[in-house]
Amino acid sequence: MSGGDKLDFEIRPNPAPVSAADRAALLANPGFGRVFTDHMVTVRYADGKGWYDARVEARAPIPMDPASAVLHYAQEIFEGLKAYRTADGGVTMFRPDANAARFVDSARRMAMPALPPEVFVDSLHKLIEIDREWIPEGEDGSLYLRPFMFASEVFLGVRPASEYLYMVIASPVGAYFSGGVKPVTVWVSPDYTRAAPGGTGAAKCGGNYATSLAAQAEAIDAGCDQVVFLDAVERRFVDELGGMNVFFVYDDDSVVTPPLTGTILPGITRDAIITLAGKAGQRVEERPVSFADWQADAASGRLREVFACGTAAVITPIGGVRFPDGEFLIGGGEPGRVTMSLRQQLVDIQRGKAADPHGWVRQVL
Ligand code: PLP
Ligand code: COI
Repeated sequence: MSGGDKLDFEIRPNPAPVSAADRAALLANPGFGRVFTDHMVTVRYADGKGWYDARVEARAPIPMDPASAVLHYAQEIFEGLKAYRTADGGVTMFRPDANAARFVDSARRMAMPALPPEVFVDSLHKLIEIDREWIPEGEDGSLYLRPFMFASEVFLGVRPASEYLYMVIASPVGAYFSGGVKPVTVWVSPDYTRAAPGGTGAAKCGGNYATSLAAQAEAIDAGCDQVVFLDAVERRFVDELGGMNVFFVYDDDSVVTPPLTGTILPGITRDAIITLAGKAGQRVEERPVSFADWQADAASGRLREVFACGTAAVITPIGGVRFPDGEFLIGGGEPGRVTMSLRQQLVDIQRGKAADPHGWVRQVL
């Protein structure tokens, strides 16, 4: 890329897009991550050349050499954010600059080149513009945007690759958990951990999810929706869920969430909730919560609510907790007042139904 941090995207419209009737059928009940739009973004990088060949083109399989470095050493990062249709017919995104900044941080941790945040945000605008008809209507609907980047160099030596491919795909989605906003049950993994100090826990790299899958499979076998990971050193403190951060709500309406010590993902939803709860006058603490305290406080009634949060999950109440020695309910297994109020505040800002004093909403169209 020559000069500045701007890159011109060549737009090559899909010559055979999905018909309006087929699209309407797909949008009626898209689920999560199964339906994709007509286009994708591709931008290439090579050492010495920088970022080049920025395109919006028909979504299609990508040819890959079997020796592409990512297939062997997993040098890959991604992001997730949503575009929303607003009541006035516009389209917005929620905090894309925060995702752009986290993408840079993830790239650094994985020894990958930093994509300029301007290019990241611009790539999302370009894809949304061309695929705007794919944004579902309705309360739970949105267009999930998945920017990602991987080592495309054809080389089997173990060192940071010299070539990368950045891409964005988009998927119209409904609620992440089928059944809408009903409390989920989580499984506290006794054996598996997600991230150790000095590891990649704070990076949004595919490898973190690969290593979470055995634990997630265990959760599903135990009849749970998601896995909760405890810290890798003492196996005492709650880190986060497989794909979500976690909050605890106490009987004085105070909220507590595990601190950002490098082993959990610094969630953008987490950050927004900390701000919203603070503004509502609730005490907010970022401090470790042990699984023993979680159980004891649930038993005593001091702990009233627990919820998971993230782009995909938004805010989802946690109603039940299982572990090898037993199980217990939170708030009688029902969604809590504070959880649902924070959820409503967040969704109203995201959907343009409430004022946005923090400048989180970015108008796209
Ligand atoms: N933690 C993990 C492991 C995640 O995958 C996600 C989802 O992106 C989150 C937390 C929540 O992050 P955010 O709120 O930025 O979507
Ligand atoms: C998200 O919430 O965007 C995530 O990435 C979580 C999961 C779908 C991987």
